[in-house]
Amino acid sequence: MFTQTLTRRVLGSSLVDLLTGPHGVDRYTELVSPTWTRNDARAQVISVQRTTPRSVTLVLEPNDAFQGFTAGQHIQLSVDINGRRRTRCYSPANAEGQRLLEITVGLHEGGLVSEYLYRQARPGMVVGLDKAAGDFVLPAIRPRRILLISGGSGITPVMSMLRTLNAERYAGRVTFIHYARSREEACYYDELAAMPRVQVLHGYTRGIEAGDLKGHFGAEHLRAAGPDPDAVYVCGPTALVAAVREQRPDAISESFVPPEFVTPADPSGGRVTFRGSTVSVVDDGRPLLEQAEAAGLTPASGCRMGICHSCTCRKTVGTVRNLITGAVSTDEGEDIQICVSVPVGDVEIDL
Ligand SMILES: Cc1cc2nc3c(=O)[nH]c(=O)nc-3n(C[C@H](O)[C@H](O)[C@H](O)COP(=O)(O)OP(=O)(O)OC[C@H]3O[C@@H](n4cnc5c(N)ncnc54)[C@H](O)[C@@H]3O)c2cc1C
Ligand code: FES
Repeated sequence: MFTQTLTRRVLGSSLVDLLTGPHGVDRYTELVSPTWTRNDARAQVISVQRTTPRSVTLVLEPNDAFQGFTAGQHIQLSVDINGRRRTRCYSPANAEGQRLLEITVGLHEGGLVSEYLYRQARPGMVVGLDKAAGDFVLPAIRPRRILLISGGSGITPVMSMLRTLNAERYAGRVTFIHYARSREEACYYDELAAMPRVQVLHGYTRGIEAGDLKGHFGAEHLRAAGPDPDAVYVCGPTALVAAVREQRPDAISESFVPPEFVTPADPSGGRVTFRGSTVSVVDDGRPLLEQAEAAGLTPASGCRMGICHSCTCRKTVGTVRNLITGAVSTDEGEDIQICVSVPVGDVEIDL
Protein backbone atom coordinates (compact mmCIF):
# COMPACT_ATOMS: atom_id res chain seq x y z
CA MET A 1 0.00 0.00 0.00
CA PHE A 2 2.80 2.39 1.00
CA THR A 3 4.76 1.47 -2.14
CA GLN A 4 1.69 2.10 -4.31
CA THR A 5 1.07 5.52 -2.77
CA LEU A 6 4.74 6.44 -3.11
CA THR A 7 4.81 5.31 -6.75
CA ARG A 8 1.70 7.40 -7.50
CA ARG A 9 3.29 10.45 -5.88
CA VAL A 10 6.46 10.02 -7.89
CA LEU A 11 4.50 9.57 -11.13
CA GLY A 12 2.44 12.65 -10.32
CA SER A 13 5.45 14.92 -9.99
CA SER A 14 6.30 17.55 -12.59
CA LEU A 15 9.85 16.16 -12.82
CA VAL A 16 8.45 12.94 -14.27
CA ASP A 17 6.43 14.98 -16.79
CA LEU A 18 9.59 16.77 -17.83
CA LEU A 19 11.53 13.54 -18.24
CA THR A 20 8.83 11.73 -20.19
CA GLY A 21 8.56 14.45 -22.85
CA PRO A 22 5.51 15.48 -24.89
CA HIS A 23 3.59 12.21 -24.48
CA GLY A 24 3.48 12.49 -20.68
CA VAL A 25 3.90 9.72 -18.19
CA ASP A 26 0.60 8.02 -19.09
CA ARG A 27 1.92 6.74 -22.43
CA TYR A 28 4.62 4.82 -20.50
CA THR A 29 2.75 3.64 -17.44
CA GLU A 30 -0.13 2.26 -19.52
CA LEU A 31 2.33 -0.18 -21.02
CA VAL A 32 2.75 -1.65 -17.53
CA SER A 33 -0.98 -1.66 -16.76
CA PRO A 34 -3.73 -0.14 -18.96
CA THR A 35 -5.47 1.56 -16.03
CA TRP A 36 -2.24 2.90 -14.56
CA THR A 37 -2.66 6.41 -15.93
CA ARG A 38 -2.50 9.71 -14.10
CA ASN A 39 -4.57 11.94 -16.41
CA ASP A 40 -6.79 9.56 -18.40
CA ALA A 41 -9.70 8.21 -16.38
CA ARG A 42 -10.08 4.51 -17.10
CA ALA A 43 -11.64 1.53 -15.43
CA GLN A 44 -11.23 -2.20 -15.44
CA VAL A 45 -14.28 -4.44 -15.63
CA ILE A 46 -14.19 -6.66 -12.57
CA SER A 47 -17.51 -8.45 -12.90
CA VAL A 48 -20.14 -9.05 -15.55
CA GLN A 49 -23.67 -10.19 -14.80
CA ARG A 50 -26.57 -10.80 -17.11
CA THR A 51 -29.46 -10.80 -14.66
CA THR A 52 -32.17 -10.07 -17.22
CA PRO A 53 -32.39 -11.38 -20.80
CA ARG A 54 -31.74 -7.95 -22.35
CA SER A 55 -29.25 -6.23 -20.09
CA VAL A 56 -25.75 -6.59 -18.76
CA THR A 57 -24.48 -5.20 -15.47
CA LEU A 58 -20.79 -4.35 -15.20
CA VAL A 59 -18.88 -3.54 -12.06
CA LEU A 60 -15.96 -1.27 -12.88
CA GLU A 61 -12.90 -0.36 -10.86
CA PRO A 62 -11.86 3.15 -11.91
CA ASN A 63 -8.32 4.43 -11.56
CA ASP A 64 -7.43 7.48 -9.46
CA ALA A 65 -7.99 9.87 -12.37
CA PHE A 66 -11.77 9.31 -12.14
CA GLN A 67 -13.28 11.93 -9.89
CA GLY A 68 -16.59 10.37 -8.89
CA PHE A 69 -20.18 11.35 -9.60
CA THR A 70 -23.38 12.53 -7.98
CA ALA A 71 -26.31 10.10 -7.99
CA GLY A 72 -28.27 10.58 -11.23
CA GLN A 73 -25.38 11.90 -13.31
CA HIS A 74 -23.96 10.12 -16.35
CA ILE A 75 -20.43 9.40 -17.49
CA GLN A 76 -19.07 8.89 -20.96
CA LEU A 77 -17.71 5.43 -21.44
CA SER A 78 -15.44 4.56 -24.35
CA VAL A 79 -14.62 1.18 -25.82
CA ASP A 80 -12.50 0.19 -28.80
CA ILE A 81 -14.56 -1.71 -31.33
CA ASN A 82 -12.73 -2.93 -34.44
CA GLY A 83 -9.94 -0.45 -33.84
CA ARG A 84 -12.22 2.58 -33.44
CA ARG A 85 -12.98 4.31 -30.18
CA ARG A 86 -16.73 4.52 -29.53
CA THR A 87 -18.20 6.64 -26.75
CA ARG A 88 -21.66 6.52 -25.22
CA CYS A 89 -23.22 7.92 -22.04
CA TYR A 90 -24.08 5.59 -19.15
CA SER A 91 -25.48 6.52 -15.74
CA PRO A 92 -23.87 4.63 -12.85
CA ALA A 93 -26.46 2.73 -10.82
CA ASN A 94 -24.47 2.47 -7.58
CA ALA A 95 -24.76 4.88 -4.68
CA GLU A 96 -22.54 7.94 -4.95
CA GLY A 97 -19.26 8.03 -3.03
CA GLN A 98 -18.32 4.39 -3.61
CA ARG A 99 -15.01 3.21 -5.02
CA LEU A 100 -16.52 0.84 -7.58
CA LEU A 101 -18.90 1.87 -10.35
CA GLU A 102 -21.82 -0.22 -11.54
CA ILE A 103 -23.39 0.32 -14.93
CA THR A 104 -26.31 -1.56 -16.43
CA VAL A 105 -26.56 -1.49 -20.19
CA GLY A 106 -29.83 -2.31 -21.94
CA LEU A 107 -29.45 -4.21 -25.19
CA HIS A 108 -30.49 -2.33 -28.34
CA GLU A 109 -30.53 -4.75 -31.27
CA GLY A 110 -28.28 -3.25 -33.92
CA GLY A 111 -26.86 -0.78 -31.39
CA LEU A 112 -23.09 -0.67 -31.66
CA VAL A 113 -21.88 -0.21 -28.08
CA SER A 114 -24.76 -1.82 -26.19
CA GLU A 115 -24.53 -5.00 -28.29
CA TYR A 116 -20.76 -5.04 -27.91
CA LEU A 117 -20.90 -4.72 -24.12
CA TYR A 118 -23.82 -7.13 -23.83
CA ARG A 119 -22.03 -9.81 -25.85
CA GLN A 120 -18.31 -9.14 -25.29
CA ALA A 121 -17.82 -7.54 -21.86
CA ARG A 122 -15.66 -9.70 -19.64
CA PRO A 123 -13.61 -9.23 -16.47
CA GLY A 124 -10.26 -7.63 -17.22
CA MET A 125 -11.58 -5.49 -20.07
CA VAL A 126 -10.50 -1.83 -19.84
CA VAL A 127 -12.84 1.04 -20.72
CA GLY A 128 -12.27 4.78 -20.94
CA LEU A 129 -14.22 7.15 -18.71
CA ASP A 130 -14.88 10.85 -18.83
CA LYS A 131 -15.89 13.06 -15.96
CA ALA A 132 -19.45 12.82 -14.72
CA ALA A 133 -22.00 15.36 -15.91
CA GLY A 134 -25.72 16.08 -15.89
CA ASP A 135 -28.36 17.92 -13.87
CA PHE A 136 -30.61 14.93 -13.21
CA VAL A 137 -29.72 14.94 -9.52
CA LEU A 138 -31.51 15.28 -6.20
CA PRO A 139 -31.26 18.65 -4.43
CA ALA A 140 -28.75 18.83 -1.56
CA ILE A 141 -31.63 19.47 0.82
CA ARG A 142 -33.73 16.39 0.20
CA PRO A 143 -37.47 16.94 -0.37
CA ARG A 144 -39.76 15.24 2.16
CA ARG A 145 -41.80 13.24 -0.34
CA ILE A 146 -40.04 12.01 -3.49
CA LEU A 147 -41.57 10.16 -6.42
CA LEU A 148 -39.09 8.46 -8.76
CA ILE A 149 -40.29 7.01 -12.08
CA SER A 150 -38.34 5.11 -14.71
CA GLY A 151 -38.82 2.97 -17.78
CA GLY A 152 -36.47 0.28 -19.17
CA SER A 153 -32.77 1.11 -18.81
CA GLY A 154 -33.82 4.53 -17.43
CA ILE A 155 -33.77 2.74 -14.09
CA THR A 156 -30.00 3.28 -13.69
CA PRO A 157 -29.81 6.91 -12.45
CA VAL A 158 -32.91 6.35 -10.32
CA MET A 159 -31.36 3.22 -8.79
CA SER A 160 -28.34 5.33 -7.87
CA MET A 161 -30.62 7.88 -6.20
CA LEU A 162 -32.46 5.14 -4.30
CA ARG A 163 -29.24 3.50 -3.14
CA THR A 164 -27.82 6.87 -2.13
CA LEU A 165 -30.95 7.81 -0.15
CA ASN A 166 -30.88 4.40 1.47
CA ALA A 167 -27.21 4.74 2.41
CA GLU A 168 -27.84 8.11 4.05
CA ARG A 169 -30.92 6.72 5.86
CA TYR A 170 -33.25 9.24 4.25
CA ALA A 171 -36.18 9.64 6.61
CA GLY A 172 -38.74 11.04 4.15
CA ARG A 173 -41.18 9.14 1.97
CA VAL A 174 -39.97 7.73 -1.34
CA THR A 175 -42.06 5.93 -3.92
CA PHE A 176 -40.58 4.33 -7.02
CA ILE A 177 -42.60 3.39 -10.11
CA HIS A 178 -40.73 1.31 -12.69
CA TYR A 179 -41.98 0.19 -16.09
CA ALA A 180 -40.42 -2.78 -17.88
CA ARG A 181 -41.67 -4.84 -20.79
CA SER A 182 -42.20 -7.84 -18.50
CA ARG A 183 -41.34 -9.12 -15.03
CA GLU A 184 -38.23 -10.96 -16.29
CA GLU A 185 -36.92 -7.77 -17.91
CA ALA A 186 -37.33 -5.70 -14.75
CA CYS A 187 -33.78 -4.93 -13.59
CA TYR A 188 -32.96 -4.94 -9.85
CA TYR A 189 -36.32 -6.57 -9.01
CA ASP A 190 -35.14 -8.55 -5.98
CA GLU A 191 -33.03 -5.76 -4.52
CA LEU A 192 -35.95 -3.35 -4.84
CA ALA A 193 -38.30 -5.79 -3.13
CA ALA A 194 -35.93 -5.94 -0.16
CA MET A 195 -35.19 -2.21 -0.02
CA PRO A 196 -36.34 -0.72 3.29
CA ARG A 197 -38.50 2.40 3.48
CA VAL A 198 -39.29 2.49 -0.28
CA GLN A 199 -42.69 1.85 -1.83
CA VAL A 200 -42.03 0.11 -5.16
CA LEU A 201 -44.69 -0.25 -7.86
CA HIS A 202 -44.02 -2.22 -11.05
CA GLY A 203 -45.81 -1.82 -14.36
CA TYR A 204 -45.34 -4.25 -17.27
CA THR A 205 -46.04 -2.81 -20.67
CA ARG A 206 -45.85 -6.00 -22.75
CA GLY A 207 -45.76 -9.00 -20.40
CA ILE A 208 -48.75 -11.14 -19.56
CA GLU A 209 -48.09 -10.93 -15.80
CA ALA A 210 -50.09 -8.45 -13.76
CA GLY A 211 -47.86 -5.80 -12.27
CA ASP A 212 -48.86 -3.44 -9.46
CA LEU A 213 -50.03 -0.97 -12.10
CA LYS A 214 -51.92 -1.62 -15.34
CA GLY A 215 -51.07 0.05 -18.64
CA HIS A 216 -49.07 3.22 -19.07
CA PHE A 217 -48.44 6.14 -16.74
CA GLY A 218 -51.37 8.49 -16.16
CA ALA A 219 -53.35 10.19 -13.37
CA GLU A 220 -54.31 6.82 -11.88
CA HIS A 221 -50.68 5.71 -11.48
CA LEU A 222 -49.82 9.05 -9.90
CA ARG A 223 -52.64 8.55 -7.38
CA ALA A 224 -51.42 5.01 -6.62
CA ALA A 225 -48.07 6.52 -5.61
CA GLY A 226 -49.71 8.11 -2.57
CA PRO A 227 -49.88 11.65 -1.25
CA ASP A 228 -48.82 14.47 -3.55
CA PRO A 229 -44.99 14.27 -3.82
CA ASP A 230 -42.83 17.36 -3.32
CA ALA A 231 -40.47 16.34 -6.11
CA VAL A 232 -40.91 14.05 -9.12
CA TYR A 233 -38.03 12.58 -11.15
CA VAL A 234 -38.53 10.60 -14.35
CA CYS A 235 -36.03 8.85 -16.62
CA GLY A 236 -37.07 6.73 -19.57
CA PRO A 237 -38.44 6.80 -23.10
CA THR A 238 -39.71 10.16 -24.35
CA ALA A 239 -43.36 8.98 -24.24
CA LEU A 240 -43.04 8.18 -20.51
CA VAL A 241 -41.36 11.51 -19.81
CA ALA A 242 -44.15 13.33 -21.71
CA ALA A 243 -46.88 11.41 -19.84
CA VAL A 244 -45.35 12.27 -16.47
CA ARG A 245 -44.88 15.91 -17.37
CA GLU A 246 -48.52 16.11 -18.43
CA GLN A 247 -49.49 15.25 -14.84
CA ARG A 248 -46.57 16.99 -13.18
CA PRO A 249 -45.11 19.74 -15.39
CA ASP A 250 -42.50 20.40 -12.70
CA ALA A 251 -41.06 16.86 -12.99
CA ILE A 252 -37.29 16.72 -13.49
CA SER A 253 -36.61 14.48 -16.42
CA GLU A 254 -33.97 12.73 -18.45
CA SER A 255 -34.32 10.60 -21.55
CA PHE A 256 -31.71 8.31 -23.07
CA VAL A 257 -33.15 8.57 -26.57
CA PRO A 258 -32.57 11.43 -29.01
CA PRO A 259 -35.21 14.19 -28.85
CA GLU A 260 -37.24 14.92 -31.95
CA PHE A 261 -35.67 17.69 -33.93
CA VAL A 262 -38.01 20.70 -34.04
CA THR A 263 -36.37 22.30 -37.03
CA PRO A 264 -36.46 20.82 -40.52
CA ALA A 265 -32.99 20.43 -41.94
CA ASP A 266 -33.01 21.11 -45.67
CA PRO A 267 -29.54 21.27 -47.21
CA SER A 268 -28.48 24.91 -47.33
CA GLY A 269 -26.05 24.21 -50.17
CA GLY A 270 -23.43 26.23 -48.29
CA ARG A 271 -19.80 25.22 -48.06
CA VAL A 272 -18.70 23.58 -44.82
CA THR A 273 -15.00 23.98 -44.13
CA PHE A 274 -13.36 21.99 -41.39
CA ARG A 275 -10.46 24.21 -40.43
CA GLY A 276 -7.52 22.29 -39.10
CA SER A 277 -7.97 19.63 -41.75
CA THR A 278 -8.00 20.31 -45.47
CA VAL A 279 -11.54 19.00 -45.76
CA SER A 280 -14.45 20.99 -47.13
CA VAL A 281 -17.86 19.68 -48.24
CA VAL A 282 -21.15 21.02 -49.57
CA ASP A 283 -23.82 21.03 -46.84
CA ASP A 284 -26.22 18.09 -47.23
CA GLY A 285 -28.58 19.09 -44.40
CA ARG A 286 -27.33 16.57 -41.79
CA PRO A 287 -25.85 17.63 -38.45
CA LEU A 288 -22.26 18.81 -38.77
CA LEU A 289 -21.02 15.80 -36.77
CA GLU A 290 -22.40 13.39 -39.36
CA GLN A 291 -21.09 15.48 -42.25
CA ALA A 292 -17.63 15.55 -40.67
CA GLU A 293 -17.67 11.78 -40.15
CA ALA A 294 -18.87 11.19 -43.71
CA ALA A 295 -15.90 13.28 -44.87
CA GLY A 296 -13.50 10.94 -43.03
CA LEU A 297 -12.92 13.02 -39.90
CA THR A 298 -13.23 11.54 -36.41
CA PRO A 299 -14.56 14.26 -34.09
CA ALA A 300 -15.18 13.42 -30.45
CA SER A 301 -18.80 12.56 -29.70
CA GLY A 302 -20.82 10.95 -26.92
CA CYS A 303 -24.61 11.07 -26.73
CA ARG A 304 -25.09 12.46 -30.26
CA MET A 305 -28.24 14.19 -29.01
CA GLY A 306 -27.15 17.49 -27.53
CA ILE A 307 -26.77 16.34 -23.91
CA CYS A 308 -23.16 15.59 -23.11
CA HIS A 309 -21.28 18.45 -24.87
CA SER A 310 -18.40 16.13 -25.86
CA CYS A 311 -18.80 17.13 -29.54
CA THR A 312 -18.49 20.84 -28.81
CA CYS A 313 -16.39 22.64 -31.44
CA ARG A 314 -15.64 26.26 -32.17
CA LYS A 315 -17.54 27.79 -35.11
CA THR A 316 -15.15 30.36 -36.50
CA VAL A 317 -17.27 31.70 -39.37
CA GLY A 318 -20.90 31.49 -40.50
CA THR A 319 -24.35 30.66 -39.12
CA VAL A 320 -25.73 27.38 -37.74
CA ARG A 321 -29.12 26.30 -36.44
CA ASN A 322 -29.61 24.13 -33.32
CA LEU A 323 -32.00 21.34 -34.33
CA ILE A 324 -33.43 20.89 -30.83
CA THR A 325 -34.06 24.47 -29.83
CA GLY A 326 -34.30 26.00 -33.30
CA ALA A 327 -31.90 28.74 -32.12
CA VAL A 328 -29.80 30.34 -34.83
CA SER A 329 -26.22 31.26 -33.96
CA THR A 330 -24.53 33.91 -36.03
CA ASP A 331 -21.69 34.90 -33.71
CA GLU A 332 -18.18 34.15 -34.86
CA GLY A 333 -15.93 32.29 -32.46
CA GLU A 334 -18.85 30.56 -30.75
CA ASP A 335 -18.82 27.03 -29.29
CA ILE A 336 -21.51 24.79 -30.78
CA GLN A 337 -22.62 21.19 -30.32
CA ILE A 338 -22.00 19.79 -33.78
CA CYS A 339 -24.21 16.71 -33.23
CA VAL A 340 -27.33 18.91 -33.22
CA SER A 341 -26.22 21.84 -35.39
CA VAL A 342 -26.80 22.27 -39.11
CA PRO A 343 -25.27 24.94 -41.34
CA VAL A 344 -27.25 27.88 -42.62
CA GLY A 345 -25.06 28.75 -45.58
CA ASP A 346 -21.25 28.73 -45.51
CA VAL A 347 -19.64 27.79 -42.21
CA GLU A 348 -16.15 27.16 -40.92
CA ILE A 349 -15.64 24.79 -38.00
CA ASP A 350 -12.44 24.42 -36.00
CA LEU A 351 -12.02 20.70 -36.52
C1 LIG B 1 -27.51 10.91 -20.28
C2 LIG B 1 -27.59 9.49 -20.81
C3 LIG B 1 -27.45 8.43 -19.92
C4 LIG B 1 -27.57 7.12 -20.39
N1 LIG B 1 -27.47 6.09 -19.51
C5 LIG B 1 -27.68 4.82 -19.94
C6 LIG B 1 -27.64 3.70 -19.03
O1 LIG B 1 -27.36 3.87 -17.84
N2 LIG B 1 -27.89 2.46 -19.53
C7 LIG B 1 -28.18 2.26 -20.86
O2 LIG B 1 -28.40 1.13 -21.26
N3 LIG B 1 -28.19 3.28 -21.74
C8 LIG B 1 -27.93 4.55 -21.33
N4 LIG B 1 -27.94 5.57 -22.23
C9 LIG B 1 -28.08 5.26 -23.66
C10 LIG B 1 -26.69 4.93 -24.24
O3 LIG B 1 -25.87 6.09 -24.20
C11 LIG B 1 -26.75 4.48 -25.72
O4 LIG B 1 -27.53 5.39 -26.44
C12 LIG B 1 -27.34 3.10 -25.85
O5 LIG B 1 -26.56 2.15 -25.13
C13 LIG B 1 -27.38 2.68 -27.33
O6 LIG B 1 -26.07 2.82 -27.87
P1 LIG B 1 -25.61 1.87 -29.06
O7 LIG B 1 -24.21 2.22 -29.41
O8 LIG B 1 -25.88 0.46 -28.72
O9 LIG B 1 -26.61 2.29 -30.24
P2 LIG B 1 -26.22 3.15 -31.53
O10 LIG B 1 -25.35 2.34 -32.41
O11 LIG B 1 -25.75 4.49 -31.10
O12 LIG B 1 -27.65 3.33 -32.20
C14 LIG B 1 -28.31 2.26 -32.88
C15 LIG B 1 -29.76 2.54 -33.10
O13 LIG B 1 -30.45 2.57 -31.86
C16 LIG B 1 -31.08 3.81 -31.68
N5 LIG B 1 -30.83 4.18 -30.31
C17 LIG B 1 -29.72 4.74 -29.81
N6 LIG B 1 -29.84 4.91 -28.49
C18 LIG B 1 -31.06 4.42 -28.16
C19 LIG B 1 -31.75 4.30 -26.94
N7 LIG B 1 -31.22 4.71 -25.78
N8 LIG B 1 -33.00 3.77 -26.97
C20 LIG B 1 -33.54 3.35 -28.15
N9 LIG B 1 -32.92 3.44 -29.33
C21 LIG B 1 -31.70 3.96 -29.34
C22 LIG B 1 -30.44 4.78 -32.62
O14 LIG B 1 -31.35 5.80 -33.00
C23 LIG B 1 -30.05 3.88 -33.75
O15 LIG B 1 -31.12 3.70 -34.64
C24 LIG B 1 -27.80 6.88 -21.78
C25 LIG B 1 -27.91 7.96 -22.67
C26 LIG B 1 -27.80 9.24 -22.20
C27 LIG B 1 -27.92 10.39 -23.17
S1 FES C 1 -22.26 14.26 -28.73
FE1 FES C 1 -23.21 14.76 -26.86
S2 FES C 1 -23.76 16.84 -27.14
FE2 FES C 1 -23.00 16.25 -29.04
